[in-house]
Amino acid sequence: MGLVSWSPESWQAKVVLQQPAYPDRDSLNVVLRQLSQFPPLVTAWEVDRLRSQLVEVANGRAFVLQGGDCSESFDDCGANSILRKLKVIIQMSLVLIAGSRQRIVRIGRIAGQYAKPRSSDIESRNGVSLPSYRGDIVNRAGFTPEERRPDPAMMLRAFERSAMTLNFVRALSEGGFADLHHPENWDMEFVRNTPGSRRYQELLDSLSKSIRFMEVVAPAGLAELKRVDFFTSHEALLLLYEQALTRTERHRGWYNLGAHTLWIGDRTRALGGAHVEYCRGVRNPIGLKVGNSMTADELLELIQLLNPDDEPGRLTLIHRFGVDSIRDRLPALASAVRASGRSVLWSCDPMHGNTRATRGGIKTRSFDDIVSELVSAFQIHREIGTRLSGIHLELTGEDVTECTGGPGNLTEADLSRDYRSTVDPRLNYEQSMEIAFLLAEQMR
Ligand code: PEP
Ligand code: CO
Repeated sequence: MGLVSWSPESWQAKVVLQQPAYPDRDSLNVVLRQLSQFPPLVTAWEVDRLRSQLVEVANGRAFVLQGGDCSESFDDCGANSILRKLKVIIQMSLVLIAGSRQRIVRIGRIAGQYAKPRSSDIESRNGVSLPSYRGDIVNRAGFTPEERRPDPAMMLRAFERSAMTLNFVRALSEGGFADLHHPENWDMEFVRNTPGSRRYQELLDSLSKSIRFMEVVAPAGLAELKRVDFFTSHEALLLLYEQALTRTERHRGWYNLGAHTLWIGDRTRALGGAHVEYCRGVRNPIGLKVGNSMTADELLELIQLLNPDDEPGRLTLIHRFGVDSIRDRLPALASAVRASGRSVLWSCDPMHGNTRATRGGIKTRSFDDIVSELVSAFQIHREIGTRLSGIHLELTGEDVTECTGGPGNLTEADLSRDYRSTVDPRLNYEQSMEIAFLLAEQMR
């Protein structure tokens, strides 16, 4: 059953939310044709490797660390920013491996995270109404008719930047930079004298000792230490783009070859909706954001639609309730899923339920709220008898000032110092590392 009536375009017959209205259909079609003919960003073999790693997660032997920008921007596609994102995620994963003695599956919100859902199609300022900014893959942030007009060519620019980003990520993760024999690549910068950086330095020192020991006793077995696995993900939002990157592999079904895994956002997760329809048909592992409006019945139906064969690792439920709601919301949903006997992975996104505006109108999140939601998530899953097997974060490897609190004790007054996100506030380098240490404690 299930896939009988699915095709890469079957979503077009469903209710489709959050899409731009392209004024020029001809140039749209030219772009889509080009996209569908480009060599893919990832391969089906890589997607299958992620699938098998997520089976390990489902078996309780590994944990998922997913993180990156809320929204990548074209301007930020540069060597340093990519290097730092990769570095912070790999460093966090080392801390988690040391703390949990589990393998960590690393997934970036990277190399394609360019489309954003918006609360309104239109933005009005001083009596002027223009289409909302939907991410660099659609239009531009500046408030002029020119910049806000959805331009299909932006999809090509986004694809090219995704390819450049992924090319660099692959080069870095295949050796040299990611080689654990060279811990000098692994130093924490601009976080010199915090308790976190000292703990991290101790961890690196003991890791280097273990590596030297292992090389003496088992010199052949350490090739894996020279490289790391790193997977890519983005929200499956702009469905014409996703459709164009959908390819069939003989005998193996349909794959989206624009990313290793995709997720469905909280705003576009409706049962009869186009996004669920698109995602149910591809072999890539799928994430589903679960927010406060989700009911247990709806969730069970979504699980049936998205994972009809009950494949372990196929579907990750990424809950994002907010620190004040998780106790009210998660227990009933987790109990219902547990009672159904269906195999899902549970991940916690402690970011999207904790966004607030300062009195001055700046979007921020408090480090303490983020940590509290994470700690509650671990507790609740333990109580219910389900397992939290991943976290999903918005973070950057740079020293930005977007979230308050953390080791540097950022206050609201500090936010204006280096606030760069055009959408949601991200954890900075130091805050991200501190989360990794706190998480490692929870997992021990
Ligand atoms: C996001 O992950 O950037 C996002 C928009 O999340 P959600 O769909 O959970 O609101
Ligand atoms: Co976001």
